[in-house]
This record gives sequence, structure tokens and C-alpha cells, in this order.
Amino acid sequence: GSGTAPADVSASFVVVANRLPVDRVQHPDGTVDWRTSPGGLVTALEPVMRKNEGAWVGWHGAPDEVLDPFEEDGITIVPVPLSSQEVAEYYEGFSNATLWPLYHDVVAPPEFHREWWDAYVRVNRRFAERAAAVSDEGATVWVQDYQLQLVPQMLRTMRPDLRIGFFLHIPFPPVELFQQLPWRREITEGLLGSDLIGFQLPGAVQNFTRLVRQRVSAEVRRDLVTLPDGHVARAKAYPISIDSRGFRELARSAPVRERAREIRRDLGDPEVMFLGVDRLDYTKGIKQRLRAYGELVAEGRLDPDKVVFVQVATPSRERVDQYRHLRDEIDMLVGRINGEVGRIGRPPVVYLHSSFPREEMAALYSTADVMVVTPLRDGMNLVAKEYVACHEGDEGALVLSEFAGAAYELKQAYKINPYDINDIKATLELACRDAPTNKARRLRALRKQVFDNDITRWADTFLSDLDQKVTG
Ligand code: ADP
Ligand code: G6P
Repeated sequence: GSGTAPADVSASFVVVANRLPVDRVQHPDGTVDWRTSPGGLVTALEPVMRKNEGAWVGWHGAPDEVLDPFEEDGITIVPVPLSSQEVAEYYEGFSNATLWPLYHDVVAPPEFHREWWDAYVRVNRRFAERAAAVSDEGATVWVQDYQLQLVPQMLRTMRPDLRIGFFLHIPFPPVELFQQLPWRREITEGLLGSDLIGFQLPGAVQNFTRLVRQRVSAEVRRDLVTLPDGHVARAKAYPISIDSRGFRELARSAPVRERAREIRRDLGDPEVMFLGVDRLDYTKGIKQRLRAYGELVAEGRLDPDKVVFVQVATPSRERVDQYRHLRDEIDMLVGRINGEVGRIGRPPVVYLHSSFPREEMAALYSTADVMVVTPLRDGMNLVAKEYVACHEGDEGALVLSEFAGAAYELKQAYKINPYDINDIKATLELACRDAPTNKARRLRALRKQVFDNDITRWADTFLSDLDQKVTG
């Protein structure tokens, strides 16, 4: 629920993101609910905001509504309105049908439309104005993700007194792909308005600095970019993480343990439970993993009386064509597998197209034997880290795509190439049948990584780097 509206918001720490931590949902009967927003950005930043007092500027997920600022669980929420047309052109269009596929290796073809770009500029300016209005003199403003890449430069022009950080949650593509973008110069310059630009991986920093060398008249020395006006922007990698201890505590709580046992029972006490958890997105490789699993069952390499694959997929960006197609394709694939190799009371795939509370996710993670994470490209993938944080004991396995940012840190996972179905098949089998000592050793190493590098460490490192004034 939303509390009372603070009269005039003013903060010394301000996060700006397209999404607020909560979404406003209006039911058909007119009643209104607030729900946790989907995706990794919100999962990661919510605990950061709870620790650092500050304001969160963002969109509340519904079109054509102007809302006053309010407090939510200790966070000051500053809603930015979007019209239906802006949702279609800025959010579904330029953000999610142009930039999203372009930045994810063009696994779907990006669309370029001039009206979408115009809306992107307009909405970025609105976010920048809102951030400028709520920031104290000399405040730190932290802009998030691909939807708002023009905000740093706009904000610097409006408020040169601010410290401006930017973090990109998704991959930054190689120059060869990025340069397809008709507005490549504007986006690059928008980002360079920051004092510090954070990426998930060193490879993304390299892609970005290579781009700047080729396209912008600026001096680039290592990770420092000096612009003609003397402004210095620094680019550096900060692999994002989760509230590892928070997830573990949740998984250890009595109700979640009980729920985990209940899930197992309801599934018919399978010998091996595979688990997939994703937003329903074509970058996640959901088709590839289900196809691999389906073939293993059909070929008798996995026994349908003993195994089950639980796939949980949050509805996402449902009015974008590519997402609509994907949903139909997954429906068909699940139907085919269950129809061909299922028995009465034992479907080999249990598919749930919906979003669940964090407790339910923790219960699923803690009981799943093999976590299957197979994106074709992913900035980080927090689901992989959540599994490691929640899954206790020596038995358990993480199968992880080498194209997920998380693979850079989670080196002890069972790695796969998601484009190679035979590789996925062989690795799923290995993850089931590997010697217990191997599994235990891998899990221990993964756990150490995820608990040593949690979200607090990520935020502290970024913010202390942002605090340091660098000169070129
Ligand atoms: P992305 O940000 O692309 O969605 P991540 O793996 O980084 O991918 O983050 C996804 C987040 O969404 C995780 O915190 C995960 O727990 C959550 N999530 C994914 N699917 C569901 C679901 N069906 N119900 C609830 N939460 C989900
Ligand atoms: C990814 C993006 C986030 C986005 C989230 C959910 O994590 O990096 O910026 O918020 O997906 O997507 P949505 O379009 O629902 O905000």
C-alpha cells in the first residue's frame, strides 16, 4: 500500500530508473493494488535503497496517471507519468523493440523508427527534469539502465553541481552492432554526461571505450574519457549481485521450508527436479532448454517417471510482437512435450506463466536439484545467484550459459553453449549424474562467490568510486 505524500521531495541521494520498485495495478472492478515490479533491476536496487535514505524517481507501470510522491517501506517514491502513446513509443518501442534486441546480440531483429526516437528523447527529458527538481545542491544521482541513456547529459546541463552516476544492467554491444543505431552519437554523448559509467563486465567497458575512440572527439586514456569542455567520464565494470544473506534467511525460514517440502510432494516426489525461472523473454533461451530436456526424455535418457522440469515464467512486455510470439511458441512446445512423453498424473514439464512472491521463489530454489539458466545473452542473470544463495546442502547443480554475465564470476557452474542443443543435453545429464563430491565442491565455490560479492558490496564500490573526483 502507499502511504502519505511528502509535500516537497528533496534528497541528497537519488536513483532514477524507468521502473519503480512497485507497480500500480488496477483491477477490472476498479480497485487498485501495488505489486513488486518484475526484473533484476528492482531485485538488486531495492535493498540498496532501504539502506541509503533517498528518493527513487521512476514510472509506476500504468499509463495516463499522474501520481504524487509517497513513502513506501522507507523509500521516497517519485512517480513519473507516461501517456499511452509514450508507453507504446518510448517503452515498448524504442526501449524494448530497438535497444533491447540491439544490445542483446540482435537475437531478435531491432526495429528503427524515428517517432520512437522522438518519444525516447521527450521522456528522457522528463525523467531528467524530475530528478533535477528533487535533488539537493551537490546531490548524488544514480541513473539506471538502457531506457534512460540520455538522462546523464541532460541532467548535467540542468544541474552542473550534481555527481552523476550511470549503471547499465544489460550488455553493451560490440561497435559493429551498436553502429547500426541511427542515433548512436546522441546515445554515446548522453552516457558521457556521467562522472562514472558502470557496466556489468570488463568486455562491455572495452566495447564502450572502443566506440568512444571511433565516434566521439574526446581523449580516451584507459578508462577515462575527457571531453572537449574538460568534463571527465570514467567507465568501469561492476558485476551486480543480490542480497545474498536476505535470500538465504528467507530460504531457511520455517514456512519456506515447509512450502519446499509441499512443492516436492505435489510434484509426485520426483527423483530429479529441474527448474527454470525467467521473465518470459526471447533472450533467456527457454525454448532451447525445453527442447533439450524434451529430447532427453523422448530418447529415454531421462525417465519421465522420475524427473520433472518446472518452468516459471513471469509475463513481460506482452504487447511487443516478439514477446507475444515467444509466448505462443513456449505454449506449443510445452504442450507437445507433455503430449508426447507425458503419463497420467506425471507431466514431464510443469509450466507456470505468472509471477510469484519471493517466498515461493525461495522454496523452489531450495528444493530444485538442477537449476537451468540458458540465456542466449544476458547482462548478469540474478536468478543464477539466487539459486546459489537459497540452495543449501551438498546436492544441487547450476547449469549456466556462458553467454550470461554471471558466468564471468560463477566459474564452477556446469557451463553450456545455449546454441548447442547437444551440449545442453549432455550437461543436463551430467548435472544429474555427477559424483556427489564434484557437486559439493562446485556448490561450495559458487556459494563463496555469491556471499563474498553481494549487493551491498556492489553499491558501496560504485558509490565510493563515484565520490572520488577524477581528473583527466
Ligand atoms: P531480468 O532482469 O532480465 O529479468 P534476472 O535474472 O537478472 O533477469 O532477474 C530476474 C528477477 O526476477 C529475479 O530476481 C527473479 O527472482 C525474479 N523473477 C523471475 N521470474 C519470476 C517469477 N515468475 N515470479 C517472481 N519473481 C520472478
Ligand atoms: C531487465 C532490465 C530492467 C527492467 C527489467 C524488467 O532487468 O534491465 O531495466 O526493469 O528487465 O523489465 P520491464 O520492461 O518490465 O521493466
